[in-house]
Amino acid sequence: AHFDGAAKPLSGRKVVVTSGPTVEPIDPVRFLANRSSGKQGHAIAAAAAAAGAEVTLVSGPVSLGDPAGVRTVHVETARQMLAAVEAALPADVAVMAAAVADWRPATETTAKMKKTPGSGPPALTLVENPDILATIGRHETLRPRLVVGFAAETNDLIANATGKLTRKGADWIVANDVSPATGVMGGDANTVRIVRADGVEDWPTLSKGDVAARLVAAIAEALSKADA
Ligand code: CTP
Ligand code: CA
Repeated sequence: AHFDGAAKPLSGRKVVVTSGPTVEPIDPVRFLANRSSGKQGHAIAAAAAAAGAEVTLVSGPVSLGDPAGVRTVHVETARQMLAAVEAALPADVAVMAAAVADWRPATETTAKMKKTPGSGPPALTLVENPDILATIGRHETLRPRLVVGFAAETNDLIANATGKLTRKGADWIVANDVSPATGVMGGDANTVRIVRADGVEDWPTLSKGDVAARLVAAIAEALSKADA
């Protein structure tokens, strides 16, 4: 999106965006991770910057370059992502588009795990990662005015998204169907539904760049309404 100087709808606003996967080490050569290209989150960070916001993008490992005009913080684990998001507060808006690994191996071995003939595969014990969206959505002192989460689902889209909205203290959930047949995962298009406490808005299928521009426009409108 392009805005002329006077009309940049997010000037003076601070926005923090998470994007990409997190990766959780098992040993020095192996990790547990989610599938995420980072395309949608990076597009949102770029669109917010184009709209004049001061943007911090906290990203797990992706093959995309850092968006222009954005401060990008590179992290690997969910715990690092949470720390980087907290360090970016206070902010007016948080958009959590990252595919955070729900669990991490309970221990990271410093030596490479080896196959031991006759003893079979090792058991992997997992522990739950912190929920970044819920931590920010329920933050006691530094909660951004607008907290936006994502819900990528393969079934019961609205019920699952509404559950996440209330459980995590988010204002909006951007819900999308990521069933393999949709091609959303890794692809360039996205069909989203915006879930709020007062209802659901269906958006047409758009490029991830256009979803980002429309989301940023909706964010700017919500902030200016709240100010009025
Ligand atoms: N999220 C997060 N930190 C986590 C897990 C999720 O910030 N540890 C955020 C995601 O970035 C997204 C939203 O929460 O904005 C929903 O993520 P999702 O994985 O769909 O929700 P979960 O609560 O992990 O539920 P489940 O994976 O069981 O569907
Ligand atoms: Ca999850």
